[in-house]
Amino acid sequence: MYLKEAKKLLNAEYKKRYKENISGFHIEVMDEKIKHSYQVLGAGNFILRHEPCFAGCKPEEIDKLQAMVLLHDIGRFYEILLMGEGKRLDHGVYGAEMLSETADFSSKDITIPIRHHGHLIEELYADEEYKNLSVLEQKLIERNSFLVRDADKLANFYLLITQFGKYGPMFLSASEYKDPYNKNISERVNKDFFAHKCVTRGDVCNLADKALCLWSWFYDVNYDSSFLFIQRLHILEKFFACLSKYWKEEEAKSYWLEMEKFVENRYKKSS
Ligand SMILES: [Fe+2]
Repeated sequence: MYLKEAKKLLNAEYKKRYKENISGFHIEVMDEKIKHSYQVLGAGNFILRHEPCFAGCKPEEIDKLQAMVLLHDIGRFYEILLMGEGKRLDHGVYGAEMLSETADFSSKDITIPIRHHGHLIEELYADEEYKNLSVLEQKLIERNSFLVRDADKLANFYLLITQFGKYGPMFLSASEYKDPYNKNISERVNKDFFAHKCVTRGDVCNLADKALCLWSWFYDVNYDSSFLFIQRLHILEKFFACLSKYWKEEEAKSYWLEMEKFVENRYKKSS
């Protein structure tokens, strides 16, 4: 029931924003977002099937979790529309607001994970609404947040390793930076990377930084089953092949070794 309703809602939002007068590029981004939403659902289903913490869920709960995963980017279409007008919007925050007005998807265990799915995890823990909940409720929201965040990353990894030529420029856009091809990594970006922290978008100054920001995504993969997915699809090796050209050769080697070690340790912990 929930997933069926979620599909209707997503489609209605896509059509509503698509009709408006926007450029071909922004229409292409919207089309990609619809595909992305379903790819995230596919990755989410993999986690739901393999991750022990979801094993005891009743079918209705799984249905609701699938709906949450599918709807995580519901705010993205309006964000893209505004981008076309040179305006900015946080699609996670906007999507959570939209859903809080629906009958089926207004519960906090759905809206809070969606609000923060694109933020650093610290922003979830600092959320006032989250902080006022009981420990049990917080655990549930954390579990759902990890599901959305992991599924979103797995789908993006897959998209980039399979179609980097087409979708790479959406993630690594030279027009966002003053000196895009400068390969010097910013100090804070470098520090966060070697501290095993996700790189903050605000610290990114060029494409080399941005590539390291994407490479640091592995630090925010939470579930063992997500690492299983990464291993099975050889994502680490393929993703490195996409990104390494943005870095100086010696530095690229050090980024590879650091992440290879990190992921290997993570596999060991899970097996
Ligand atoms: Fe998103």
